[in-house]
Amino acid sequence: MSEHNKKEWWKNPHPECKPETSVISAGYDPAFSEMSAKQPIFTTSTFMFKTAEDGEKFFRLATHPEERTDGESPGLIYSRLNNPNMEIVEDKMVVMHPGAQAAAVLPSGLSAISTSILALLHPGDQIIYSAPVYGGTEHMFDAILTKFDIHSHAVHSPELDQYEELLKKHKGSVKMIFIETPTNPTIVHTDVEGIVKLAKKYSTPEKKILVAVDNTFLGPVYQKFCDKGIDLCIYSATKFIGGHSDLIGGFVLGSKADIQVIKSFRSVIGATTDPFCCWLMSRSLETITIRMERCSENAQKIAEFLVKHPQVEKVRYPGLLKKGDPQYDIYKKQCTGPGALLSFYIKGGKEEAFKVLNNVHVCRLAVSLGGTETLIEHPRRMTHSEMTDELCAATDMTDSMIRLSVGVEDADDLINDLDKALKTIA
Ligand SMILES: Cc1ncc(COP(=O)(O)O)c(C=O)c1O
Repeated sequence: MSEHNKKEWWKNPHPECKPETSVISAGYDPAFSEMSAKQPIFTTSTFMFKTAEDGEKFFRLATHPEERTDGESPGLIYSRLNNPNMEIVEDKMVVMHPGAQAAAVLPSGLSAISTSILALLHPGDQIIYSAPVYGGTEHMFDAILTKFDIHSHAVHSPELDQYEELLKKHKGSVKMIFIETPTNPTIVHTDVEGIVKLAKKYSTPEKKILVAVDNTFLGPVYQKFCDKGIDLCIYSATKFIGGHSDLIGGFVLGSKADIQVIKSFRSVIGATTDPFCCWLMSRSLETITIRMERCSENAQKIAEFLVKHPQVEKVRYPGLLKKGDPQYDIYKKQCTGPGALLSFYIKGGKEEAFKVLNNVHVCRLAVSLGGTETLIEHPRRMTHSEMTDELCAATDMTDSMIRLSVGVEDADDLINDLDKALKTIA
């Protein structure tokens, strides 16, 4: 495998092809594994060196990345540092993201966010972020990063002037703008191009402001930002990338330099992803486009059904946005499809919402999203239960809101299921 690192042609054997084609073969050379058409799972904690000199060299390159010549990377050493299945899935993610130079796999989405921040930020740095973000991210910002003297400021609206106000107020100490778009669970889009411009405007030679985007909801199929000037594209791979609700994983993509810093930090804190999980994610990446397309088609039909339902107050779904709405303009500018996530508000409060949740039979009552099955949950009392009342009020996350992650089932079966459950509150 050390030879593997010198030539590196298989990182993308078909550079002329589209990501959906390239992802099938990227990252894996069958010649290194008895011509096995599919990658084996490398269940080993350690790798043998052909010579002691190799061992010395690999360690030197691993611990001193600055000494690597172009394209050179350390040979395989120990699976906390690197493993073929980790490298293969990282290469596949890179071909799915035009503009990205490198990817790092992490054992969860939250680990991808926390490892990136802890690797690239320092005490005293500040973060400005779109609110609401995923509840766990919010909690990490509030309860964990503050221990390292990294403080975060929420922006409750997609208006860019609110970001600018905070950038002015904390001039010189903002190191990152963290955007989750569309937001979970309120499905609000933030103009990433506008955020990139602001980050450039307020960066200084001493402090470049990094733009990090959590692209879990619509990427990589319906949103690609790596060629739009962002620094980090982050995923919970637990969702669409894994795609079957059977693993926990995460990724961050960006420049070679930033990803190298994150990978070095990952090795030291031990945030390693096991080879089987990497193998599962590699396999799932081959079908991500068809899965997301089917989920999105289903979600559009369900959104159109729900918006006319007498027991439904309103529906938040990108595919229902209309011309004239500023959200429509952002959606059209940066997304190529509406995706699988929608939130709807029933007529009534928590009691009625819970009744709907307790009366679905095809949709499954569970948190998470992005799987082949449709999942239904109550953000205010489940995924986002730790958010303050003030933040919930500011972001319209009420007790009447239900979040749906639409799967690949038959759309009519899902519609009938929701209709029966909604009739229980009529
Ligand atoms: C948008 C978003 N980002 C990050 C995460 C965290 O991911 P994980 O559960 O894989 O740590 C989630 C989890 O639901 C999420 O929805």
